[in-house]
Amino acid sequence: MNVSIVGSGYVGTTVAACLADYGHEVTNVDIDEGVVAAIESGEAPIHEPGLADLVAEYGGERLRATTDYAAVRETDVTFLALPTPTGDDGRIDLGVLKAGVRSLGEALASKDDPHVVVVKSTVVPGTTEETVAPLLAEASGKTPGEDLHVAANPEFLREGSAVADFRDPDKIVFGTDTDFARDRLREVFEPLLADADAALVETGIREAEMMKYANNAFLASKVSLVNELGNVCKEYGVDAYEVADALGLDDRIGARFLRSGVGWGGSCFPKDVAALIAAARDAGYDPAMLEAAVEVNDEQPERLLDLLETHLDPAGKRVAVLGLAFKPGTDDVRNSRAIPVVEGLRERGAEVVAYDPVATENMRERFPDIEYARSAADALDGAHGTLVVTDWDEFAALDDAFDAMADPVVVDGRRIVERREGITYEGLTW
Ligand code: UGA
Repeated sequence: MNVSIVGSGYVGTTVAACLADYGHEVTNVDIDEGVVAAIESGEAPIHEPGLADLVAEYGGERLRATTDYAAVRETDVTFLALPTPTGDDGRIDLGVLKAGVRSLGEALASKDDPHVVVVKSTVVPGTTEETVAPLLAEASGKTPGEDLHVAANPEFLREGSAVADFRDPDKIVFGTDTDFARDRLREVFEPLLADADAALVETGIREAEMMKYANNAFLASKVSLVNELGNVCKEYGVDAYEVADALGLDDRIGARFLRSGVGWGGSCFPKDVAALIAAARDAGYDPAMLEAAVEVNDEQPERLLDLLETHLDPAGKRVAVLGLAFKPGTDDVRNSRAIPVVEGLRERGAEVVAYDPVATENMRERFPDIEYARSAADALDGAHGTLVVTDWDEFAALDDAFDAMADPVVVDGRRIVERREGITYEGLTW
């Protein structure tokens, strides 16, 4: 099939490369000329494990990229993978998506055959039918349900394992209201449906849109709940990780996303939980549980800082922060818990020295004035206390490096450092 994908972020590029790998002719449309040039010359514009090989193999051939929306006319279906960032009061900002939809509609005006437009971006229920479809119809002159078909196909890929997640998903969701759109989606995903043991969920468009929010809100709340249990455990001197291991043995709960600590960040959980809260309020419902999940998450970095203060006053002291990425395996610092931790240390007058194996440059944009160490050992050297924020494996291997600390207080927000002789160890939730 001929497939076009508007937007070449981590979702758009990953899906494009994986669909090319399944034998489709794929065209990425993006306004960024650098991204387009990279894909055309066989280079992945973003870092995702496995992506570089796919783009090297298909880029410029079965996988094309262009800034020109006219390319969509040669395709049977277009996926929209544009960002829907947080706007006012947590609501999603549809500006970028709407601009893309308008350009897409204008390009489709001179296409004779019917076209299917699939929203992959995370959008509030009703957006595809009430915003995307009318805009497309207006710009293209086409009629929804006749020669224009819209659908929702939310994405559950994680940053850092997006290619692997695409190839082996737990579920694939098609939200459609016409047989035409559903059949075309089945064709696009046919190789995946044939190979993987993924469940296929065929549903309505609004339900599909909601499934994405429900997924992220549930997982974020699950982590907040285990963090709250962890906070209670800490008060009682109970090891929350042992408790979580036992919890995970119950099939009804499941073992994943039970790691308590300094909380969730990234470009998805915070944005999507905020958007769902705003959407619920707009609809007249007060989502108390989701609000509590955010509250617990916001408190965890404060608790980490409070624990440090039970051992030393950080004012005027050099304090190390280990880990800046929002999770291991990525250089993404968006909504990383390291941000409130660094801010809190600075408010307390500490001199921050931070280390991350890959995210330093991204964090430097946010905090140009703090010191960035070249290694964890350099960060620890002479530090009065360290706060561990990201569970990078290399922090588990740290040993003698703690001996160089001026005051060896280790407050571990992820349970990655081993308790050992010679350090004062505080786990956040154990
Ligand atoms: C998340 C979802 O997991 C994906 O399914 C979804 O497609 C994606 O958002 C999205 O909406 O695009 P991602 O943001 O890449 O993926 O990160 P996760 O691996 O889910 O981690 C989110 C945060 O939760 C991280 O800060 C992580 O450290 C934290 N976390 C996760 C915990 O604190 N404890 C856990 O047990 C698990």
